[in-house]
Amino acid sequence: MYFELSEEHKMIRDAAREFAQELKAGAIQRDEEAKFPFEFVKKMGELGFMGIMVPQEYGGAGLDTLAYVLALEEIAKIDASAAVIVSAHNSLVLWGLNEYGTEEQKQKYLVPLATGEKLGAFALSEPEAGSDASSQHTIAEDQGDYYLLNGTKNWITNGGNADIYLVIAQTDVGKGHKGINVLIVEKGYTGFTIGPKENKLGIRSSDTHSLLFSDVKVPKENRIGDDGFGFKFAMKTLDGGRIGIAAQALGIAAGAYDLALAYSKTRKTFGKPISDHQAIQFKLADMEVEIEAARLLTYKAAWTKDQGLPYGKEAAMAKLHASEVAMKHTIEAVQIHGGYGYVKEYHVERLMRDAKITQIYEGTSEIQRLVIAREILRA
Ligand code: CAA
Ligand code: FAD
Repeated sequence: MYFELSEEHKMIRDAAREFAQELKAGAIQRDEEAKFPFEFVKKMGELGFMGIMVPQEYGGAGLDTLAYVLALEEIAKIDASAAVIVSAHNSLVLWGLNEYGTEEQKQKYLVPLATGEKLGAFALSEPEAGSDASSQHTIAEDQGDYYLLNGTKNWITNGGNADIYLVIAQTDVGKGHKGINVLIVEKGYTGFTIGPKENKLGIRSSDTHSLLFSDVKVPKENRIGDDGFGFKFAMKTLDGGRIGIAAQALGIAAGAYDLALAYSKTRKTFGKPISDHQAIQFKLADMEVEIEAARLLTYKAAWTKDQGLPYGKEAAMAKLHASEVAMKHTIEAVQIHGGYGYVKEYHVERLMRDAKITQIYEGTSEIQRLVIAREILRA
């Protein structure tokens, strides 16, 4: 057991921390106006965060999952919307392209995505297929040289601003989940339209859209992997994605804690700082313990993946715990701020709203428990 970060990991964490300070000034306004942080996504591309785990030969930074988690945690402490843009792009699009894409697919799609020149989105969910992800209604008919894609995807992060979409679709209804494929769809393909932006509770400056496909011709060479690999591709992708969302949730919790701790030392009631009241001290103690536990689970899941070991259960455990901690302790951070926590200027109400989604996307908390229980019972 060794709990110290390497010098390289510390440098990455510090670089992300320094960059994240730039996000702070406009975060409240971007949230209020649901404004996508274009200039910061560009900057994150320049800093290497938009291709952090992609090998350098494909334009990435060539770093490991732990480095990715450290960067996401720092970004999410300040701006959880920016964090999910990075997470969906890296975990859900770049990872699968790098792992299973052909050389042609990598040159054409992975390289511009990894350098941050282009943005990616992952489209699995549908109006009637969220938790029950294999119940796909989007159909891709095999027409020889191409697939004819028809259907609707729901809730797609980066949906409006992405250039490249990984779209999961049923190619053979009779084969159930073994008749599902993943297709690379470019923005601008005829028949592909983007629905209106969702007006959300939290992560408001990340954009979430439905995607509509009407007789979209997708070249056969845009399928990733063998015929019928799409559902397993999605499940494997989500195993890694859940580590990213765990890091986002951890960052949200830690960001709210930092604010609450600092505030508790300056706000005075009954002649002393509120941090001198035991009721507040106990809240801070619980935050410290549970956030550290979430951090250890998240780093361990990243480490397990980096060791080449199976990591589905570890990822689900980290995501489940970190998201529950984020929700619980952002509520406490608002409480510690009293009335000031309820207004926008103090940032904690935004973090509380942002926390909720981490219990829902990339598998709800109920689905994480289902994944963990299946693994326990199978072992
Ligand atoms: N890795 C590899 N293969 C896997 C797998 C994994 N982690 N999980 C399942 N499979 C395989 C199984 O082995 C099985 O294959 P075989 O038939 O060959 O044995 C096949 O997939 C079907 O498995 P299940 O019977 O377990 O599938 P299921 O229908 O019961 O569903 C589930 C399992 C875990 C509930 C899955 O549907 C699921 O993860 N649901 C949640 C969906 C989700 O997380 N969506 C997130 C969308 S992206 C997003 O949200 C992004 C964002 O916010 C930014
Ligand atoms: P449902 O599946 O209808 O679930 C409703 C409730 O029932 C939940 O509480 C759930 O936990 C519970 N439930 C369902 N099944 C079970 C069961 N077997 N046991 C116990 N409880 C169960 N998807 C993408 O593909 N790509 C994206 O980029 C993306 N980004 C998103 C961004 C946002 C802001 C949001 C809101 C969603 C996003 N999603 C994305 C979709 C997200 O993954 C789904 O919303 C999520 O998986 C839940 O699906 P659902 O909304 O259909 O809920």
